[in-house]
Amino acid sequence: MSNGTTIKNRFFKSAMNENLAKNGHPNEHHIKLYQAWAKGGAGLLLTGNVMVDRHALGEPGNVVVEDERDIDTLKKWAEAGTANDTQLWMQINHPGKQSPRTLSKEPVAPSAVGFEGVYGRVFNTPKALTKDGITQIVQRFVNTAVIAKKAGFTGVEIHGAHGYLIDQFLSPLDNQRTDEYGGSLDNRMRFLIEIYQGMREALGESFPIGLKINSSDFQTGGFTEEDSLQVIKTMEKLGINLIEISGGNYTSPKMSTGTSTNSNDAFFINYAKKIKDLVNVPIVVTGGFRTESSMEDAIEDGDTSMVGIGRPFVLMPDLPNQIARGTYATVNLPWLTTGIKPLDSAVGPAIGNSYYEQQMDRIAEGKRPVVSRNAWSPLFYSIKVQGIAALSPKRAK
Ligand SMILES: Cc1cc2nc3c(=O)[nH]c(=O)nc-3n(C[C@H](O)[C@H](O)[C@H](O)COP(=O)(O)O)c2cc1C
Repeated sequence: MSNGTTIKNRFFKSAMNENLAKNGHPNEHHIKLYQAWAKGGAGLLLTGNVMVDRHALGEPGNVVVEDERDIDTLKKWAEAGTANDTQLWMQINHPGKQSPRTLSKEPVAPSAVGFEGVYGRVFNTPKALTKDGITQIVQRFVNTAVIAKKAGFTGVEIHGAHGYLIDQFLSPLDNQRTDEYGGSLDNRMRFLIEIYQGMREALGESFPIGLKINSSDFQTGGFTEEDSLQVIKTMEKLGINLIEISGGNYTSPKMSTGTSTNSNDAFFINYAKKIKDLVNVPIVVTGGFRTESSMEDAIEDGDTSMVGIGRPFVLMPDLPNQIARGTYATVNLPWLTTGIKPLDSAVGPAIGNSYYEQQMDRIAEGKRPVVSRNAWSPLFYSIKVQGIAALSPKRAK
């Protein structure tokens, strides 16, 4: 990277909320899970999204870092995840309006734009942030990043994708402000830029800062590929070290399904092909990589600097080692079902995530992940961990 950071190989384990924290505290399970992933051979591990405010959670099991109360555990987590010459970056996030009503009575957002349809029952209509409120959240992002660095994480990633607060500012559908944080794309980018610049000043020139951003939110009148490219160009000028490409949000969950028009199995590779000659910052495409040949092609064609992989890393924590040894057999994600069709469509989206959370929990306990199509076990697991709120529709963050 331009700041001199080198990563030992091109395997990038993308952020997956572990849902293992109790009351926001990281614990032994996080340490064990990242130990397994560091041993598994990835060059760069991202943590699941860590929240900047314990009163604004995306899910009950999120880790929260808003002060140094957990610094000893964070240090052990960082030590475990950086073993074997691995980079471990903390992904930092604020959910904005994507905080379920079971967790937030009145979430905040750029504007008071609620969800429609089924998600309207899951999320309360948000309150528009005041300028003071915006400044405080910017400061929280910076504060969390400073603690991450102090604890020994080797970088941070700003979560600007998937419909969370930063993405809400970027989206003209969510952001209807008439002050300097709304309107033109320059204004909608201001919140992100203030977070980045605050972090850069506090962390120094050489500390890696990445950004996860949507190629598009796939909604009429929403955040487009042209917007995304402009944001990437601006962030490149400001000195961002890495851009991870994803897409979608709760309403249009393309981050876990992709679009059907890709030639490669990676979901957002076509967008990466379009922009690769227009920017110099390292781009990492995440989502959909399953076959070894698709990973190789994407790297050889220069479409991505690293291969961003999520769910296969849960089913095969040593995926990079398997590829290096020549023993990799393509990971196919199981299609989960309760065996009861109407039930599948009612709780299906909740089951998908719970299944992967359950497997992360197993890895943390030193067990092997179970590849199964049976949705009942993850369903009971999530009810045990989260209570009945687990059945709310959600998506792969
Ligand atoms: C259980 C689970 C939790 C996730 N949590 C996050 C998260 O905290 N932050 C994030 O940016 N993406 C999150 N994602 C999305 C992944 O990073 C990735 O973009 C997505 O799974 C597509 O990659 P894949 O097809 O290789 O799984 C999550 C996905 C899953 C399945």
